[in-house]
Amino acid sequence: TLTVDPAAQGAAIDDTMYGVFFEDINRAADGGLYAELVQNRSFEYSTADNRSYTPLTAWTVDGTAQVLNDAGRLNERNRSYLSLSAGSSVTNAGYNTGIRVEAGKKYDFSVWARAEAATTLTVTLQDAAGPLASARQVAVKGGWAQYRATFTASRTSSYGRLTVASPAAAALDMVSLFPRDTYRGEPNGLRKDLAEKIEALHPGFVRFPGGCLVNTGSMEDYSEASGWQRARAYQWKDTIGPVEQRATNANFWGYNQSYGLGYYEYFRLAEDIGAMPLPVVPALVTGCGQNKAVADDALLKRHIQDTLDLIEFANGPATSTWGKVRAAMGHPRPFHLTHIEVGNEENLPDEFFARFRQFRAAIQATYPGVQVISNSGPDDSGTTFDTAWKLNRDAGVDMVDEHYYNSPQWFLQNNDRYDSYDRSGPKIFLGEYASQGNAWKNALSEAAYMTGLERNADVVKLASYAPLFANEDYVQWRPDLVWFNNHASWNSANYEVQKLFMTNTGDRVVPSKASLTPSVSGPITGAIGLSTWATSAAYDDVRVTAADGTALFGDDFSGDASKWTHTGTGTWAVQDGRYVQTDATAENTMVQAGDPAWHDYDLHVKATKKSGK
Ligand code: AHR
Repeated sequence: TLTVDPAAQGAAIDDTMYGVFFEDINRAADGGLYAELVQNRSFEYSTADNRSYTPLTAWTVDGTAQVLNDAGRLNERNRSYLSLSAGSSVTNAGYNTGIRVEAGKKYDFSVWARAEAATTLTVTLQDAAGPLASARQVAVKGGWAQYRATFTASRTSSYGRLTVASPAAAALDMVSLFPRDTYRGEPNGLRKDLAEKIEALHPGFVRFPGGCLVNTGSMEDYSEASGWQRARAYQWKDTIGPVEQRATNANFWGYNQSYGLGYYEYFRLAEDIGAMPLPVVPALVTGCGQNKAVADDALLKRHIQDTLDLIEFANGPATSTWGKVRAAMGHPRPFHLTHIEVGNEENLPDEFFARFRQFRAAIQATYPGVQVISNSGPDDSGTTFDTAWKLNRDAGVDMVDEHYYNSPQWFLQNNDRYDSYDRSGPKIFLGEYASQGNAWKNALSEAAYMTGLERNADVVKLASYAPLFANEDYVQWRPDLVWFNNHASWNSANYEVQKLFMTNTGDRVVPSKASLTPSVSGPITGAIGLSTWATSAAYDDVRVTAADGTALFGDDFSGDASKWTHTGTGTWAVQDGRYVQTDATAENTMVQAGDPAWHDYDLHVKATKKSGK
């Protein structure tokens, strides 16, 4: 029974309540949302990114070519380049099965090249069945310069290869192939189907760029002084400006990140889809198992200044130092940043907090309108969580980011998590959550849980499922909201739940009360269909198995009623070797005697209708 009082005023629900969290995990950026089709375009792949990498990963050489890192480089931040000998060629294999092209569509090729003696590059696009477009000739002479050509695909293929051949010696860098048909036709743009899937959610905000991506590795910058650090924390200044001047970096998730998809592109995406941008910056305490507090005051000051510069990059007038950089990239208007998160899942709450306070003080002093979000560490309960929460509460933090990945049962059983949160304390940003699976029951448990978030919309201000994307061939983390390969993308059931809530966000909660009579109580409350079984006498021969079909409690109730107990007022008896409910009125919770951990299983209940159907 659902009792609703339409006149009662529940919490107001902000338009920004539900959003998305984009992290470059599962190759969500290169080979994913970032539309570039060439893998390792700048020959920067390194064993520091992944032990299996070489600077020629994804390339094959016909003839002679070597990757050099010397004074002949394109620039200080893009240090390696390919030296191609006369009469040689290199071929790029793209991502997944290869380079995806569609018949009739245009593809923009570009390369930075240098050739002392004039040469003409022949650029071809083909798969095993032959050419995918007419070959292009690119005349190159002199020092580093960018050259362009356009292909029109004559066939559709997901197995394309891009080859660059030169009759004379040439140096190559930033070998690029972009579909003309990017999301909204934007240059250096996003893969259309994936960006459109984000847009279709109508998210209220976009949290980016991580996650563990943000606050792991060295906090040093990419400079000679730091020994051209790789595996350094994600720093926004590395990711803006002309793409050939962006340094690449080792990604915490075990591959190379080109930073072609950087802060400018994230802000542009948020603006395109009408979402609030919500960046996360590192706080000089590493997280995600690294647990190191960096004690370097000068470095801390530099990171704090970088964060102020980021706000200026987003919001400053086109005449300001960083606003000018944004304008030069094509966006004189501000991006309207209102929230910023400092840190992610730090395991050392005291050390984190000492630094967080300094970030917050500096941001509030310069930009009092910008809300600074803190976090509660990596867990949803426990000592670190309690300590972090105490620090946040004592410091009067505006908003705390909580993360948790739990079973569907957990989500069903914790719908009331925020009912008891202090209404005068920090607000909640549920920045990452998922119910550990992409099955329908996971999505359903998340939907159920989201009703609890919404009911508490006075405290829970923002919520985003995580992670957003996974390339099916490069998975570090599952479940994920949207899956893809080089030619297709598909939504999970969880995506449909997010979409349902994001595209139907109410203005205000109408308080309601549900009562279930009779109801199923106890740990198997979440088992789908169980209530039907438990509340009628229409079923018998009930079997409880794990997801793989393994019998958990014996494969039927063949006579041994002593193994089972049930609560409630129902009457059960062993009849003809089956355990059968003999009345139709009762509430029943069945448990197996002597196995208190039984509810940790993924339970499947199978029952036979008494009618025999
Ligand atoms: O969403 C995947 C990871 O989970 C994030 O990077 C991190 O913040 C969390 O541990």
